[in-house]
Amino acid sequence: MILQFITSPKNVSTVPYTQNFVHGFNPPKDVEILLQKSCFDCHSNNTAYPWYAEIQPIGMLLANHISEGKEKLNFDELKNLGKRQQRSRFTGIIEQIEQNKMPLKSYLFMHKDAALSEKNKKVLTSYFEILKSQ
Ligand code: HEC
Repeated sequence: MILQFITSPKNVSTVPYTQNFVHGFNPPKDVEILLQKSCFDCHSNNTAYPWYAEIQPIGMLLANHISEGKEKLNFDELKNLGKRQQRSRFTGIIEQIEQNKMPLKSYLFMHKDAALSEKNKKVLTSYFEILKSQ
């Protein structure tokens, strides 16, 4: 008997988790941990898939968020951009965090630990302000 499963292709590269952004920019550990928890699932080349990704249509919604999110911003590709484009990405990141637009609300529903406290928002925005000024 042949069982067929309809699944979306997974967003998992052979490069170790977060390696690209972390190697490229060498952020402090607290920044790395926050980005990994709150942003990388949808904005990097590696998603830590939750158990519910196997359940449709939730898995398909997540896949849509990832492809749409990566199209707008891929942390693992920032290093390859020119200075001007990098600055504009950093500005966007700061705005999205300050305005509480990211991480997406629908994601927080399933990932409570991805929510950013005021203090952690500041950790991230201060870091990207520094990158912007370099
Ligand atoms: C559940 C997936 C998901 C997570 C987690 C997530 N994003 Fe997003 N992000 C998206 C999607 C989808 C879009 C494009 C649609 C939109 O702007 O709402 C996006 C867009 C963006 C944009 C571009 C906005 C624009 O209009 O140009 C930035 C910047 C961004 N996200 C930053 C972040 C940061 C920083 C985090 C972590 C604090 C984060 N995102 C977490 C899915 C996600």
